[in-house]
Amino acid sequence: MRVLQGKRSREVRAVWHQGGKVRMIDQRILPERFKIVDFTDYLQIAEAIKNMTVRGAPSIGATAAYGMALAARNGADLQEAAATLKATRPTAYDLFYAVDHMLNSLELGDDPVDAADGYADQIVEKCRLIGKYGADLIDEEWNIMTHCNAGALATVDIGTALAPIRTAWTQGKHIFVYVSETRPRLQGMKLTAWELYNEGIPHNVIVDGASGAMMCRDTNMVIVGADRIAANGDFANKIGTFDKAVLAHELAVPFYVAAPMSTFDFSIVSGDEIVIEDRAEEEVTMIGNKRIAPKEVTALNPSFDMTRAKYVTGFITEMGILRPSEIGALRKEQFSEEGDL
Ligand code: MRU
Repeated sequence: MRVLQGKRSREVRAVWHQGGKVRMIDQRILPERFKIVDFTDYLQIAEAIKNMTVRGAPSIGATAAYGMALAARNGADLQEAAATLKATRPTAYDLFYAVDHMLNSLELGDDPVDAADGYADQIVEKCRLIGKYGADLIDEEWNIMTHCNAGALATVDIGTALAPIRTAWTQGKHIFVYVSETRPRLQGMKLTAWELYNEGIPHNVIVDGASGAMMCRDTNMVIVGADRIAANGDFANKIGTFDKAVLAHELAVPFYVAAPMSTFDFSIVSGDEIVIEDRAEEEVTMIGNKRIAPKEVTALNPSFDMTRAKYVTGFITEMGILRPSEIGALRKEQFSEEGDL
């Protein structure tokens, strides 16, 4: 991804390995500060996933892969490392997928860092393909709504929901992006808007509650990411996604979910089986270090919601556009052949 620092720009990934360290952008402090943090131990990696230094399903997966690489390099118990990493966040399937992928690679005797680098590289290549297929759905001068951050920060590089947007913009299409702020952690306003600014893609941030009004006004399509997709096409994504999907359905606005096959969990039949992470109520009652709710007030903070497949126009994947009805016929084995993930 391109990061502007004054008049200079640099290319950087959300997470990578360099000189024996796992390096990542600290996503908790963007956009105020751009800081790269280093880790040398899988326990530190587990903490970074838990405290959301790194977030977004595919980035969490790649980070966990690097965590497994550090565990192998440091001679740690691999089963213990796998269990610790898998216990960090419950909803994003890429986490579980990546850890199992690394356990298999390490058992086969692959070099730990090469295996994790290969995992990260493949995610980026899948995002590139998601961009290519998704951009074909976008017409000249379209207004596209997205939610949360499913950009390069969330996927090592390029993005899932942002990939078609980036590609369409690069193709010269005059698009405009509506970014919903994504309370409580504001990944839309803080991270997606920052990425779009760095790429020079025109956009406006809207409050979450403005989604319906903007769909009535001039939104041509909605593209969101996903944290876990069930075999029937039900999926979990950042809280507020469900509301947008129902509104889009009612208002006949095409609603697309962009995700690599590593986000599809074929072991679960429907979205009812997806574990939804509940996070601390302070994320709701406070903004930064400042409490904004009266001190007696309590809050609930489900971090994700589940949207039924019937609201999805299509899934934008590295294999092309899949209709929800086509997912059931797919089998995981199809994607794990020939070293593919
Ligand atoms: O809690 P987060 O910030 O990890 O949640 C991220 C999202 O919900 C994204 O929309 C999703 O992971 C897709 S990322 C490509």
